[in-house]
Amino acid sequence: MRRKISIAIDGPASAGKSTVAKLLAQKLNYIYVDTGAMYRVLTYAVLKAQLDPGDENKILSLLKKMTISFTSEDLSQQRVWMNGEDVTEEIRADVVTNNVSEVSAHKKIREEMVARQQAMGADGGVVMDGRDIGTAVMPKAELKIFLVASVEERARRRYEENISKGMTVDFETLKREIAERDYKDSHRKNSPLVQAADAVKIDTTGMTIEEVVSEIEKIIEI
Ligand code: DC
Repeated sequence: MRRKISIAIDGPASAGKSTVAKLLAQKLNYIYVDTGAMYRVLTYAVLKAQLDPGDENKILSLLKKMTISFTSEDLSQQRVWMNGEDVTEEIRADVVTNNVSEVSAHKKIREEMVARQQAMGADGGVVMDGRDIGTAVMPKAELKIFLVASVEERARRRYEENISKGMTVDFETLKREIAERDYKDSHRKNSPLVQAADAVKIDTTGMTIEEVVSEIEKIIEI
């Protein structure tokens, strides 16, 4: 059997990272770690506790007391847990999405999250997606992928996803929110979203998920 490696997938919001990462993990029989979900769980807890998203120390003490875990009998049905409570749906709410960049920008929060993520990926055989996986969490990952797509295409994917869930959304609003999150995630002081020097960039605009996964599989074969 092929040796189990570590795969880092980074890129901006809605570039298809989690769908691609899940499918790849499933095919390779690897663990999948959705690091964005971890920052979302914390943001959900911050809002629930009515803490100020700018209060780094209070958020850190909240995080220190919190367990964040995933269950994944079937990766397409992966559930996200906060202190044993299933928060899979709650962490996708707009109010969480619109506050997560501020919560995740704090240095001490990132240090704690990175340490937890490194522990989860310590044995290899992992596909991890996020913003700083190839640069900070798994700088020695054997394979680093940087997924991008135009803002227009990412907003369209989000739009279709929301419509299929029966939610009405304004396309222009989605586009603006995606562009804003890109800006915040790429301009923060602590480990901003940036392509690792040794990452392979794939522009997924106009590609299907299967095409992206098969492109990555080809790179793994080499
Ligand atoms: O991938 P996502 O949209 O679920 O991520 C939510 C937010 O979490 C994203 O806007 C920035 C932050 N994040 C981060 O700072 N570092 C990561 N490794 C993953 C996500």
